[in-house]
Amino acid sequence: MKIIAVWFAFILLTVGNSFGQIPKIIEKNGRHALLVDGKPFLMLGGQAHNSSGWPGMMPQVWQAVEAMHMNTLEVPVYWEQIEAQPGHFDFSMINTLLVQARVHKVHLVLLWFATWKNGSNHYMPEWMKRDAAKYPNITGKNGQPVDSPSPMVKATLEADIKAFTAVMQYLKGADAQHTVIMVQVENESGAWGSVRDYSASAQKLFEGNVPLELLNPGVLKSLNVPVVTGGTWQQVFGDRADEYFQAWYVARFIGQVAAAGKAVYPLPLYVNAALRDPLTNPMATNYESGGPTDNVIPIWKVAAPAIDLVAPDIYLPGSERVLKVIDLYDRHDNALFVPEAALIPDNAKYLYEVIARGGIGFSPFGIDDNGAGATKAEIAEKLAPFAQEYEMAAPMMRELAEWGFEGKIKAVVEHDDHAEQTIDLGAWQAVISFGTGRGGEAARPNAQPTGKLMIVKLDDNKFIITGTHCHVTFRPVGKNLGKAWEYLKVEEGRYENGSFKLLRILNGDETDWGGPRFGAATTVLQATLITR
Ligand code: DGJ
Repeated sequence: MKIIAVWFAFILLTVGNSFGQIPKIIEKNGRHALLVDGKPFLMLGGQAHNSSGWPGMMPQVWQAVEAMHMNTLEVPVYWEQIEAQPGHFDFSMINTLLVQARVHKVHLVLLWFATWKNGSNHYMPEWMKRDAAKYPNITGKNGQPVDSPSPMVKATLEADIKAFTAVMQYLKGADAQHTVIMVQVENESGAWGSVRDYSASAQKLFEGNVPLELLNPGVLKSLNVPVVTGGTWQQVFGDRADEYFQAWYVARFIGQVAAAGKAVYPLPLYVNAALRDPLTNPMATNYESGGPTDNVIPIWKVAAPAIDLVAPDIYLPGSERVLKVIDLYDRHDNALFVPEAALIPDNAKYLYEVIARGGIGFSPFGIDDNGAGATKAEIAEKLAPFAQEYEMAAPMMRELAEWGFEGKIKAVVEHDDHAEQTIDLGAWQAVISFGTGRGGEAARPNAQPTGKLMIVKLDDNKFIITGTHCHVTFRPVGKNLGKAWEYLKVEEGRYENGSFKLLRILNGDETDWGGPRFGAATTVLQATLITR
Protein backbone atom coordinates (compact mmCIF):
# COMPACT_ATOMS: atom_id res chain seq x y z
CA MET A 1 0.00 0.00 0.00
CA LYS A 2 2.78 2.34 1.03
CA ILE A 3 4.72 1.56 -2.16
CA ILE A 4 1.61 2.31 -4.27
CA ALA A 5 1.12 5.62 -2.48
CA VAL A 6 4.76 6.62 -3.02
CA TRP A 7 4.53 5.57 -6.68
CA PHE A 8 1.31 7.55 -7.12
CA ALA A 9 2.90 10.62 -5.56
CA PHE A 10 5.90 10.21 -7.87
CA ILE A 11 3.64 9.99 -10.95
CA LEU A 12 1.67 13.02 -9.82
CA LEU A 13 4.84 14.99 -9.27
CA THR A 14 6.41 14.15 -12.65
CA VAL A 15 3.15 14.51 -14.59
CA GLY A 16 2.27 17.67 -12.68
CA ASN A 17 5.72 19.07 -13.37
CA SER A 18 5.61 18.74 -17.12
CA PHE A 19 1.89 19.15 -17.85
CA GLY A 20 1.61 22.38 -15.89
CA GLN A 21 4.39 24.00 -17.84
CA ILE A 22 3.57 26.90 -20.12
CA PRO A 23 4.77 26.37 -23.72
CA LYS A 24 8.06 28.07 -24.47
CA ILE A 25 10.75 28.25 -27.11
CA ILE A 26 14.27 27.28 -26.14
CA GLU A 27 17.56 27.56 -27.99
CA LYS A 28 20.70 25.40 -27.84
CA ASN A 29 23.70 25.82 -30.16
CA GLY A 30 21.61 27.88 -32.56
CA ARG A 31 18.85 25.24 -32.79
CA HIS A 32 15.40 25.69 -31.32
CA ALA A 33 12.60 23.68 -29.80
CA LEU A 34 9.05 24.52 -28.84
CA LEU A 35 8.44 22.91 -25.48
CA VAL A 36 4.88 21.73 -24.88
CA ASP A 37 4.32 19.92 -21.58
CA GLY A 38 8.04 20.40 -21.01
CA LYS A 39 9.22 18.44 -24.09
CA PRO A 40 10.04 19.36 -27.72
CA PHE A 41 6.89 19.43 -29.83
CA LEU A 42 6.53 19.49 -33.60
CA MET A 43 3.44 21.30 -34.87
CA LEU A 44 1.83 19.25 -37.64
CA GLY A 45 -0.43 22.14 -38.43
CA GLY A 46 -2.97 23.57 -40.79
CA GLN A 47 -4.68 26.95 -40.94
CA ALA A 48 -8.41 27.55 -41.26
CA HIS A 49 -9.66 30.02 -43.83
CA ASN A 50 -9.95 33.64 -42.72
CA SER A 51 -13.69 33.56 -42.07
CA SER A 52 -13.94 30.09 -40.57
CA GLY A 53 -13.46 30.94 -36.89
CA TRP A 54 -17.24 31.01 -36.28
CA PRO A 55 -19.31 28.30 -34.55
CA GLY A 56 -21.26 27.41 -37.69
CA MET A 57 -18.08 26.99 -39.73
CA MET A 58 -16.03 24.94 -37.30
CA PRO A 59 -17.48 21.48 -38.10
CA GLN A 60 -15.85 21.60 -41.54
CA VAL A 61 -12.60 22.78 -40.02
CA TRP A 62 -12.56 19.85 -37.58
CA GLN A 63 -13.27 17.45 -40.43
CA ALA A 64 -10.16 18.71 -42.18
CA VAL A 65 -8.15 18.53 -38.95
CA GLU A 66 -9.07 14.85 -38.60
CA ALA A 67 -8.51 14.07 -42.28
CA MET A 68 -5.06 15.63 -42.16
CA HIS A 69 -3.92 13.98 -38.88
CA MET A 70 -3.02 17.42 -37.57
CA ASN A 71 -1.94 18.02 -34.00
CA THR A 72 -2.26 21.81 -34.14
CA LEU A 73 -4.91 24.06 -35.66
CA GLU A 74 -4.17 27.68 -36.50
CA VAL A 75 -7.37 29.67 -36.35
CA PRO A 76 -8.07 33.41 -36.39
CA VAL A 77 -9.75 35.33 -33.59
CA TYR A 78 -11.23 38.62 -34.64
CA TRP A 79 -10.94 41.97 -32.91
CA GLU A 80 -14.16 43.13 -34.61
CA GLN A 81 -16.04 40.24 -32.96
CA ILE A 82 -14.29 40.23 -29.59
CA GLU A 83 -14.68 43.97 -28.93
CA ALA A 84 -17.73 44.89 -31.00
CA GLN A 85 -18.50 47.60 -28.40
CA PRO A 86 -15.58 49.60 -26.98
CA GLY A 87 -14.37 48.06 -23.72
CA HIS A 88 -16.87 45.14 -23.83
CA PHE A 89 -15.16 41.86 -24.55
CA ASP A 90 -16.82 38.71 -25.80
CA PHE A 91 -14.62 35.65 -25.48
CA SER A 92 -17.32 33.11 -26.28
CA MET A 93 -15.72 32.14 -29.59
CA ILE A 94 -12.34 31.59 -27.96
CA ASN A 95 -14.09 29.44 -25.37
CA THR A 96 -15.76 27.42 -28.15
CA LEU A 97 -12.38 26.89 -29.80
CA LEU A 98 -10.81 25.75 -26.54
CA VAL A 99 -13.60 23.29 -25.77
CA GLN A 100 -13.72 21.85 -29.30
CA ALA A 101 -9.94 21.61 -29.67
CA ARG A 102 -9.79 19.56 -26.47
CA VAL A 103 -12.48 17.22 -27.77
CA HIS A 104 -10.45 16.78 -30.95
CA LYS A 105 -7.22 16.44 -28.94
CA VAL A 106 -5.33 19.10 -30.84
CA HIS A 107 -3.51 22.24 -29.82
CA LEU A 108 -4.35 25.71 -31.08
CA VAL A 109 -2.37 28.62 -32.40
CA LEU A 110 -4.60 31.69 -32.24
CA LEU A 111 -4.14 34.39 -34.88
CA TRP A 112 -4.88 37.87 -33.57
CA PHE A 113 -6.52 39.56 -36.57
CA ALA A 114 -6.47 43.14 -35.32
CA THR A 115 -4.79 46.39 -36.41
CA TRP A 116 -3.18 44.61 -39.40
CA LYS A 117 -4.62 41.85 -41.54
CA ASN A 118 -2.67 41.57 -44.81
CA GLY A 119 -1.60 45.18 -44.42
CA SER A 120 -5.09 46.61 -43.85
CA ASN A 121 -7.25 47.58 -40.88
CA HIS A 122 -10.19 45.42 -41.97
CA TYR A 123 -10.53 43.54 -38.67
CA MET A 124 -10.67 46.68 -36.52
CA PRO A 125 -14.05 46.94 -34.80
CA GLU A 126 -16.70 49.06 -36.53
CA TRP A 127 -16.45 51.80 -33.90
CA MET A 128 -12.82 52.29 -34.91
CA LYS A 129 -13.44 52.12 -38.65
CA ARG A 130 -16.12 54.83 -38.23
CA ASP A 131 -13.60 57.14 -36.51
CA ALA A 132 -10.92 57.53 -39.16
CA ALA A 133 -9.73 60.78 -37.62
CA LYS A 134 -8.82 59.01 -34.39
CA TYR A 135 -7.60 55.75 -36.00
CA PRO A 136 -6.16 56.92 -39.33
CA ASN A 137 -4.63 55.05 -42.22
CA ILE A 138 -1.33 56.06 -43.74
CA THR A 139 -0.94 58.62 -46.52
CA GLY A 140 0.86 57.80 -49.76
CA LYS A 141 3.73 59.70 -51.37
CA ASN A 142 1.42 61.89 -53.44
CA GLY A 143 -1.04 62.44 -50.64
CA GLN A 144 -3.28 59.56 -51.77
CA PRO A 145 -5.16 57.49 -49.18
CA VAL A 146 -3.64 54.05 -48.53
CA ASP A 147 -5.63 51.11 -47.19
CA SER A 148 -3.27 50.46 -44.29
CA PRO A 149 -3.34 51.63 -40.66
CA SER A 150 -0.73 54.06 -39.44
CA PRO A 151 1.73 52.47 -36.99
CA MET A 152 2.43 55.84 -35.36
CA VAL A 153 -0.97 56.52 -33.83
CA LYS A 154 -1.15 56.29 -30.05
CA ALA A 155 -4.92 55.80 -29.94
CA THR A 156 -4.75 52.75 -32.23
CA LEU A 157 -1.84 51.30 -30.27
CA GLU A 158 -3.62 51.79 -26.95
CA ALA A 159 -6.81 50.20 -28.24
CA ASP A 160 -4.96 47.18 -29.63
CA ILE A 161 -2.95 46.76 -26.43
CA LYS A 162 -6.13 46.87 -24.37
CA ALA A 163 -7.90 44.25 -26.47
CA PHE A 164 -4.90 41.92 -26.89
CA THR A 165 -4.14 42.07 -23.19
CA ALA A 166 -7.75 41.15 -22.44
CA VAL A 167 -7.45 38.14 -24.79
CA MET A 168 -4.26 36.96 -23.10
CA GLN A 169 -5.79 37.52 -19.65
CA TYR A 170 -8.78 35.43 -20.68
CA LEU A 171 -6.53 32.64 -21.97
CA LYS A 172 -4.55 32.65 -18.77
CA GLY A 173 -7.71 31.98 -16.81
CA ALA A 174 -9.42 29.60 -19.25
CA ASP A 175 -6.55 27.48 -20.49
CA ALA A 176 -4.68 25.92 -17.59
CA GLN A 177 -3.99 22.86 -19.78
CA HIS A 178 -2.32 24.98 -22.47
CA THR A 179 -4.47 24.01 -25.41
CA VAL A 180 -3.21 27.25 -26.97
CA ILE A 181 0.52 26.89 -27.51
CA MET A 182 1.31 30.06 -29.46
CA VAL A 183 -0.32 33.29 -30.56
CA GLN A 184 0.30 35.19 -33.78
CA VAL A 185 0.19 38.93 -33.22
CA GLU A 186 -1.59 40.62 -36.17
CA ASN A 187 -1.43 39.08 -39.65
CA GLU A 188 1.01 39.96 -42.42
CA SER A 189 1.58 43.47 -41.11
CA GLY A 190 2.98 46.26 -43.27
CA ALA A 191 1.52 48.23 -46.14
CA TRP A 192 0.64 47.47 -49.72
CA GLY A 193 0.45 50.49 -52.00
CA SER A 194 2.93 52.74 -50.21
CA VAL A 195 6.41 52.05 -48.89
CA ARG A 196 5.75 54.21 -45.85
CA ASP A 197 3.48 56.76 -44.26
CA TYR A 198 4.03 60.18 -45.85
CA SER A 199 1.56 62.09 -43.65
CA ALA A 200 2.85 65.35 -42.17
CA SER A 201 3.45 63.83 -38.72
CA ALA A 202 5.21 60.77 -40.19
CA GLN A 203 7.32 63.00 -42.42
CA LYS A 204 8.50 64.92 -39.36
CA LEU A 205 9.64 61.68 -37.75
CA PHE A 206 11.29 60.59 -40.98
CA GLU A 207 13.32 63.80 -41.05
CA GLY A 208 14.45 63.18 -37.46
CA ASN A 209 17.31 61.00 -36.28
CA VAL A 210 17.43 57.21 -36.43
CA PRO A 211 16.80 55.76 -32.94
CA LEU A 212 19.94 54.76 -31.05
CA GLU A 213 19.00 51.07 -30.83
CA LEU A 214 19.22 50.79 -34.61
CA LEU A 215 22.67 52.38 -34.68
CA ASN A 216 24.18 49.37 -32.95
CA PRO A 217 27.12 48.35 -35.23
CA GLY A 218 25.96 44.71 -35.30
CA VAL A 219 22.50 45.76 -36.47
CA LEU A 220 23.83 48.14 -39.12
CA LYS A 221 26.21 45.49 -40.46
CA SER A 222 23.41 42.95 -40.69
CA LEU A 223 21.41 45.53 -42.66
CA ASN A 224 24.37 45.95 -45.02
CA VAL A 225 24.84 49.67 -44.41
CA PRO A 226 27.98 51.52 -43.23
CA VAL A 227 28.41 51.75 -39.45
CA VAL A 228 27.73 55.33 -38.30
CA THR A 229 26.97 56.89 -34.92
CA GLY A 230 24.06 59.08 -35.98
CA GLY A 231 22.04 60.63 -38.76
CA THR A 232 18.60 60.91 -40.31
CA TRP A 233 16.87 57.88 -41.85
CA GLN A 234 17.93 59.04 -45.28
CA GLN A 235 21.54 59.59 -44.22
CA VAL A 236 21.91 56.24 -42.50
CA PHE A 237 19.88 53.97 -44.78
CA GLY A 238 20.00 55.69 -48.22
CA ASP A 239 17.60 54.21 -50.75
CA ARG A 240 16.21 51.76 -48.15
CA ALA A 241 15.32 54.56 -45.71
CA ASP A 242 11.58 54.65 -46.45
CA GLU A 243 11.13 50.92 -45.96
CA TYR A 244 13.33 50.65 -42.85
CA PHE A 245 11.50 53.59 -41.29
CA GLN A 246 8.15 51.87 -41.89
CA ALA A 247 9.49 48.53 -40.59
CA TRP A 248 10.76 50.18 -37.42
CA TYR A 249 7.38 51.77 -36.61
CA VAL A 250 5.30 48.71 -37.49
CA ALA A 251 7.62 46.47 -35.44
CA ARG A 252 7.63 48.89 -32.52
CA PHE A 253 3.84 49.03 -32.50
CA ILE A 254 3.44 45.25 -32.65
CA GLY A 255 6.29 44.77 -30.20
CA GLN A 256 4.40 46.87 -27.66
CA VAL A 257 1.16 44.98 -28.20
CA ALA A 258 3.07 41.70 -27.77
CA ALA A 259 4.91 42.88 -24.66
CA ALA A 260 1.67 43.95 -22.99
CA GLY A 261 0.03 40.58 -23.72
CA LYS A 262 3.10 38.67 -22.63
CA ALA A 263 3.23 40.56 -19.35
CA VAL A 264 -0.11 39.00 -18.35
CA TYR A 265 0.42 35.57 -19.92
CA PRO A 266 3.84 34.69 -21.40
CA LEU A 267 2.95 32.37 -24.29
CA PRO A 268 5.30 32.24 -27.29
CA LEU A 269 4.32 35.01 -29.73
CA TYR A 270 5.19 35.41 -33.39
CA VAL A 271 4.53 37.49 -36.48
CA ASN A 272 4.12 36.27 -40.06
CA ALA A 273 5.51 37.81 -43.21
CA ALA A 274 4.16 38.36 -46.70
CA LEU A 275 7.44 37.55 -48.41
CA ARG A 276 9.48 39.44 -50.91
CA ASP A 277 11.42 37.62 -53.60
CA PRO A 278 14.53 36.48 -51.70
CA LEU A 279 16.65 36.05 -54.81
CA THR A 280 16.45 39.47 -56.46
CA ASN A 281 16.53 42.06 -53.63
CA PRO A 282 13.62 44.06 -55.09
CA MET A 283 12.60 47.49 -53.76
CA ALA A 284 9.68 47.63 -51.33
CA THR A 285 7.31 49.03 -53.96
CA ASN A 286 7.06 45.38 -55.09
CA TYR A 287 5.88 43.81 -51.83
CA GLU A 288 4.28 44.54 -48.48
CA SER A 289 6.51 47.17 -46.92
CA GLY A 290 7.28 47.29 -43.20
CA GLY A 291 6.33 43.70 -42.38
CA PRO A 292 8.96 41.17 -41.26
CA THR A 293 10.43 40.48 -44.71
CA ASP A 294 13.86 38.82 -44.70
CA ASN A 295 15.80 42.05 -45.26
CA VAL A 296 14.37 43.77 -42.15
CA ILE A 297 14.51 40.89 -39.66
CA PRO A 298 17.33 42.67 -37.73
CA ILE A 299 15.06 45.73 -37.35
CA TRP A 300 12.21 43.57 -36.03
CA LYS A 301 14.53 41.83 -33.57
CA VAL A 302 15.59 45.17 -32.06
CA ALA A 303 12.19 46.87 -32.20
CA ALA A 304 10.03 43.98 -30.97
CA PRO A 305 11.92 41.81 -28.47
CA ALA A 306 8.64 40.41 -27.05
CA ILE A 307 8.07 38.66 -30.38
CA ASP A 308 9.73 35.23 -30.13
CA LEU A 309 10.03 34.64 -33.84
CA VAL A 310 9.28 36.00 -37.29
CA ALA A 311 7.88 33.49 -39.74
CA PRO A 312 7.54 33.18 -43.53
CA ASP A 313 4.22 32.58 -45.30
CA ILE A 314 5.22 30.47 -48.26
CA TYR A 315 3.30 31.28 -51.42
CA LEU A 316 6.29 31.93 -53.69
CA PRO A 317 6.92 29.34 -56.40
CA GLY A 318 10.09 27.40 -57.19
CA SER A 319 12.36 25.23 -55.07
CA GLU A 320 15.33 27.60 -55.19
CA ARG A 321 13.23 30.50 -53.94
CA VAL A 322 11.44 28.54 -51.23
CA LEU A 323 14.61 26.91 -49.93
CA LYS A 324 16.25 30.34 -49.79
CA VAL A 325 13.32 31.69 -47.78
CA ILE A 326 13.54 28.79 -45.34
CA ASP A 327 17.26 29.43 -44.97
CA LEU A 328 16.75 33.15 -44.32
CA TYR A 329 14.24 32.57 -41.52
CA ASP A 330 16.24 29.74 -39.89
CA ARG A 331 18.56 31.88 -37.80
CA HIS A 332 20.42 31.50 -34.53
CA ASP A 333 18.13 34.17 -33.12
CA ASN A 334 14.96 32.89 -34.80
CA ALA A 335 13.22 29.53 -34.51
CA LEU A 336 12.06 28.27 -37.90
CA PHE A 337 8.29 28.02 -38.25
CA VAL A 338 6.18 28.03 -41.43
CA PRO A 339 2.74 29.26 -40.32
CA GLU A 340 1.32 29.34 -43.85
CA ALA A 341 2.11 27.60 -47.11
CA ALA A 342 -0.07 27.25 -50.18
CA LEU A 343 -2.05 24.01 -50.04
CA ILE A 344 -0.47 22.55 -53.17
CA PRO A 345 1.21 19.14 -53.55
CA ASP A 346 4.61 20.69 -54.26
CA ASN A 347 4.73 22.30 -50.80
CA ALA A 348 4.45 19.09 -48.77
CA LYS A 349 8.13 18.39 -49.37
CA TYR A 350 9.18 21.49 -47.42
CA LEU A 351 7.86 19.87 -44.24
CA TYR A 352 10.97 17.65 -44.39
CA GLU A 353 13.28 20.62 -44.83
CA VAL A 354 11.71 22.34 -41.83
CA ILE A 355 11.92 19.23 -39.63
CA ALA A 356 15.55 18.60 -40.59
CA ARG A 357 16.47 22.14 -39.65
CA GLY A 358 14.93 21.67 -36.22
CA GLY A 359 11.94 23.84 -37.15
CA ILE A 360 9.04 23.91 -34.72
CA GLY A 361 6.16 23.47 -37.14
CA PHE A 362 4.57 23.63 -40.56
CA SER A 363 1.08 24.61 -41.58
CA PRO A 364 -0.57 24.78 -45.01
CA PHE A 365 -3.23 27.46 -45.39
CA GLY A 366 -6.96 27.03 -46.00
CA ILE A 367 -7.63 23.44 -44.98
CA ASP A 368 -11.44 23.73 -44.82
CA ASP A 369 -14.05 24.11 -47.53
CA ASN A 370 -14.63 27.88 -47.03
CA GLY A 371 -18.12 27.77 -48.45
CA ALA A 372 -16.88 27.37 -52.02
CA GLY A 373 -18.89 24.19 -52.37
CA ALA A 374 -15.98 21.80 -52.83
CA THR A 375 -16.97 18.16 -52.58
CA LYS A 376 -15.55 15.97 -49.82
CA ALA A 377 -13.49 14.16 -52.44
CA GLU A 378 -12.04 17.44 -53.74
CA ILE A 379 -11.07 18.55 -50.24
CA ALA A 380 -9.56 15.15 -49.45
CA GLU A 381 -7.49 15.33 -52.63
CA LYS A 382 -6.07 18.73 -51.67
CA LEU A 383 -5.23 17.59 -48.15
CA ALA A 384 -3.80 14.19 -49.16
CA PRO A 385 -0.12 15.11 -49.78
CA PHE A 386 0.06 16.68 -46.31
CA ALA A 387 -2.22 14.13 -44.65
CA GLN A 388 0.02 11.21 -45.56
CA GLU A 389 3.09 12.98 -44.18
CA TYR A 390 1.31 13.93 -40.95
CA GLU A 391 0.00 10.37 -40.59
CA MET A 392 3.57 9.12 -40.82
CA ALA A 393 4.96 11.80 -38.51
CA ALA A 394 2.22 11.90 -35.84
CA PRO A 395 3.19 8.73 -33.93
CA MET A 396 6.85 9.80 -33.90
CA MET A 397 6.21 13.52 -33.45
CA ARG A 398 7.99 13.82 -30.10
CA GLU A 399 11.03 11.92 -31.40
CA LEU A 400 11.17 14.03 -34.58
CA ALA A 401 11.05 17.19 -32.50
CA GLU A 402 13.83 15.94 -30.21
CA TRP A 403 15.99 14.60 -33.08
CA GLY A 404 15.53 17.85 -35.00
CA PHE A 405 16.54 19.86 -31.95
CA GLU A 406 19.63 17.64 -31.51
CA GLY A 407 20.62 17.98 -35.19
CA LYS A 408 20.20 14.28 -35.98
CA ILE A 409 17.96 14.73 -39.04
CA LYS A 410 18.93 15.57 -42.59
CA ALA A 411 16.65 15.97 -45.59
CA VAL A 412 16.62 16.70 -49.28
CA VAL A 413 13.72 18.01 -51.35
CA GLU A 414 13.57 17.59 -55.11
CA HIS A 415 14.70 20.70 -56.95
CA ASP A 416 12.97 21.97 -60.05
CA ASP A 417 15.78 20.44 -62.18
CA HIS A 418 15.22 16.99 -60.55
CA ALA A 419 19.01 16.65 -60.00
CA GLU A 420 20.49 13.89 -57.82
CA GLN A 421 21.47 14.99 -54.29
CA THR A 422 23.61 13.64 -51.46
CA ILE A 423 23.45 13.69 -47.67
CA ASP A 424 26.56 13.34 -45.53
CA LEU A 425 26.14 11.06 -42.56
CA GLY A 426 29.71 10.68 -41.27
CA ALA A 427 30.88 7.24 -42.38
CA TRP A 428 28.21 7.08 -45.11
CA GLN A 429 26.94 9.30 -47.86
CA ALA A 430 23.35 8.85 -48.94
CA VAL A 431 22.76 9.37 -52.66
CA ILE A 432 19.21 10.30 -53.58
CA SER A 433 17.76 10.22 -57.11
CA PHE A 434 14.26 11.38 -57.87
CA GLY A 435 11.81 9.22 -59.75
CA THR A 436 9.99 5.93 -59.28
CA GLY A 437 10.13 2.41 -60.65
CA ARG A 438 10.28 -0.81 -58.69
CA GLY A 439 11.47 -4.37 -59.05
CA GLY A 440 13.44 -4.31 -62.28
CA GLU A 441 11.35 -1.61 -63.99
CA ALA A 442 13.23 1.28 -65.53
CA ALA A 443 13.29 4.35 -63.29
CA ARG A 444 10.74 6.95 -64.33
CA PRO A 445 11.46 10.62 -63.68
CA ASN A 446 8.92 12.52 -61.59
CA ALA A 447 6.48 14.63 -63.59
CA GLN A 448 6.44 17.25 -60.81
CA PRO A 449 9.34 17.91 -58.42
CA THR A 450 7.53 16.48 -55.38
CA GLY A 451 10.21 13.98 -54.26
CA LYS A 452 11.72 14.17 -50.79
CA LEU A 453 13.73 12.14 -48.35
CA MET A 454 14.49 12.53 -44.67
CA ILE A 455 17.11 10.53 -42.75
CA VAL A 456 17.48 10.28 -38.99
CA LYS A 457 20.89 9.09 -37.82
CA LEU A 458 20.18 6.74 -34.92
CA ASP A 459 23.84 5.67 -34.74
CA ASP A 460 26.80 5.47 -37.14
CA ASN A 461 25.23 2.68 -39.21
CA LYS A 462 21.53 2.77 -38.41
CA PHE A 463 19.04 5.17 -39.94
CA ILE A 464 15.34 5.89 -40.02
CA ILE A 465 14.51 6.90 -43.60
CA THR A 466 11.26 8.23 -44.98
CA GLY A 467 10.36 9.72 -48.30
CA THR A 468 8.36 9.74 -51.51
CA HIS A 469 9.12 9.65 -55.25
CA CYS A 470 12.82 8.85 -54.94
CA HIS A 471 15.35 6.15 -54.30
CA VAL A 472 18.35 6.14 -52.04
CA THR A 473 21.59 4.24 -51.93
CA PHE A 474 24.74 4.68 -49.88
CA ARG A 475 28.46 5.19 -50.41
CA PRO A 476 31.00 4.33 -47.74
CA VAL A 477 32.99 7.50 -46.95
CA GLY A 478 35.16 8.81 -44.11
CA LYS A 479 36.36 5.91 -41.96
CA ASN A 480 34.49 3.51 -44.30
CA LEU A 481 36.08 4.85 -47.47
CA GLY A 482 37.07 2.10 -49.93
CA LYS A 483 35.30 -0.69 -48.02
CA ALA A 484 32.74 -3.03 -49.53
CA TRP A 485 29.30 -2.72 -47.94
CA GLU A 486 25.79 -4.08 -47.88
CA TYR A 487 22.52 -3.67 -46.06
CA LEU A 488 22.44 -5.77 -42.93
CA LYS A 489 18.71 -5.24 -42.75
CA VAL A 490 16.13 -2.87 -44.22
CA GLU A 491 12.87 -2.91 -42.32
CA GLU A 492 9.65 -1.23 -43.42
CA GLY A 493 7.13 -0.23 -40.79
CA ARG A 494 6.20 2.66 -38.55
CA TYR A 495 8.04 4.41 -35.79
CA GLU A 496 5.69 4.91 -32.89
CA ASN A 497 5.94 5.46 -29.16
CA GLY A 498 9.71 5.42 -29.30
CA SER A 499 10.28 2.19 -31.22
CA PHE A 500 10.12 0.73 -34.69
CA LYS A 501 7.13 -1.54 -35.47
CA LEU A 502 7.96 -3.93 -38.29
CA LEU A 503 5.63 -4.46 -41.24
CA ARG A 504 8.11 -6.44 -43.34
CA ILE A 505 11.80 -6.82 -44.11
CA LEU A 506 12.63 -5.35 -47.52
CA ASN A 507 15.08 -7.31 -49.61
CA GLY A 508 15.65 -8.53 -53.17
CA ASP A 509 14.04 -6.34 -55.81
CA GLU A 510 12.99 -3.84 -53.13
CA THR A 511 16.55 -3.00 -52.05
CA ASP A 512 18.86 -4.20 -54.86
CA TRP A 513 19.86 -2.13 -57.89
CA GLY A 514 20.21 1.21 -56.14
CA GLY A 515 17.30 0.89 -53.71
CA PRO A 516 15.34 1.08 -51.57
CA ARG A 517 12.77 3.04 -53.56
CA PHE A 518 10.02 5.31 -52.33
CA GLY A 519 6.81 5.66 -54.32
CA ALA A 520 3.81 7.96 -53.97
CA ALA A 521 2.86 6.74 -50.48
CA THR A 522 5.10 7.80 -47.61
CA THR A 523 6.96 4.79 -46.22
CA VAL A 524 9.17 4.59 -43.15
CA LEU A 525 12.25 2.37 -43.19
CA GLN A 526 14.83 1.45 -40.61
CA ALA A 527 18.05 0.58 -42.42
CA THR A 528 21.19 -0.91 -40.90
CA LEU A 529 24.36 -0.89 -43.01
CA ILE A 530 27.60 -2.89 -42.61
CA THR A 531 31.01 -2.89 -44.25
CA ARG A 532 32.74 -6.18 -45.16
C1 DGJ B 1 -1.85 35.19 -46.49
C2 DGJ B 1 -2.67 35.62 -45.32
O1 DGJ B 1 -1.86 35.67 -44.19
C3 DGJ B 1 -3.86 34.70 -45.10
O2 DGJ B 1 -4.62 35.19 -44.04
C4 DGJ B 1 -4.65 34.61 -46.39
O3 DGJ B 1 -5.18 35.84 -46.70
C5 DGJ B 1 -3.74 34.09 -47.48
N1 DGJ B 1 -2.63 34.98 -47.67
C6 DGJ B 1 -4.34 33.99 -48.87
O4 DGJ B 1 -5.53 33.45 -48.96
